[in-house]
Amino acid sequence: PSLLSTSLAMWWVVVAALLHSVEGAVSPPQYLNVTSARSSSIHPLHIKNPLTLWCSADGLKSAKFVHLSKEKKIHPAKITGNNATITIDSPTVLYAGDYRCEMEAKGGMKTETTSVYVRPVVHTELVEKVDEKEGENFIVDMTAIVLTEGGSFNITCPAFSHPLPKIKWTKNGNILTLSSRISLSGDRLTITGVDFSDEGVYSCEAVNEFTVATKTMRPMLKVSRIVTVKSQYAWVWPLAVIIATLLILILVIWFCEIRKKNREKRAATYLAED
Ligand SMILES: *[C@@H]1O[C@H](CO)[C@@H](O)[C@H](O)[C@H]1NC(C)=O
Ligand SMILES: *[C@@H]1O[C@H](CO)[C@@H](O)[C@H](O)[C@H]1NC(C)=O
Ligand SMILES: *[C@@H]1O[C@H](CO)[C@@H](O)[C@H](O)[C@H]1NC(C)=O
Repeated sequence: PSLLSTSLAMWWVVVAALLHSVEGAVSPPQYLNVTSARSSSIHPLHIKNPLTLWCSADGLKSAKFVHLSKEKKIHPAKITGNNATITIDSPTVLYAGDYRCEMEAKGGMKTETTSVYVRPVVHTELVEKVDEKEGENFIVDMTAIVLTEGGSFNITCPAFSHPLPKIKWTKNGNILTLSSRISLSGDRLTITGVDFSDEGVYSCEAVNEFTVATKTMRPMLKVSRIVTVKSQYAWVWPLAVIIATLLILILVIWFCEIRKKNREKRAATYLAED
């Protein structure tokens, strides 16, 4: 048994040495320091500071960083000695995510993963009215929504962050009560059979959490929108106003015509008298 354990120990030393020969390192997690809550597909929010990621391994030959997002964008790295770096000069919030550094080094392939965090910001496809308020937490008011009585509607919480946020919905400051008509699915709130009781201020609070340099942050984004409900027959009123205006116009024209005719008749009478 002592022989077995000795040889096992020797094997372990060899394996550890092999592992050590391709041991790599990678830059620690960092975060994008955003100072505004507003981002969109057309105008993604930019960060002033450049983003630098590095990774290293003994006998490094080549390396690339793969952004572990939907697009899996590849960033070829610049090699200096055993160190591979990429620098993005003016990154947008969309550069947040996990990055895998794939290195070709002396001992073979080696991968290391690091994270680039970002607090929740409003990221929408459409250009919408977004009013931000300053502060530690981002407080945002977005375009009001008018729903039609009896209709149905989806509202999504337009929060973008890495890691993904936890989302809480409130209505007029109270936790939203769900029912057969009001349901939640991921970041989407669905209201069906809209009635006047659905009016109010709907807010979603998105909080994520990350640790950078032993400091844990829990930034919050609160997005509110006013929801009003209009009657199914709301279209009747503008139509009624148009019809009434037309009637008044016709009456005025008719009245003027009568007065004109009367004046002409009177003038004709004077002429005849002369
Ligand atoms: C983030 O940016 C703000 C404003 O530009 C600055 O005051 C703050 O020091 C920055 N924070 C870090 C950790 O770089
Ligand atoms: C690699 O390069 C970056 C940027 O030049 C530097 O900050 C980092 O400390 C280097 N890493 C190692 C392990 O030398
Ligand atoms: C809301 O989302 C659900 C699921 O995607 C969809 O079936 C429904 O048609 C949407 N309703 C509206 C009013 O957009």
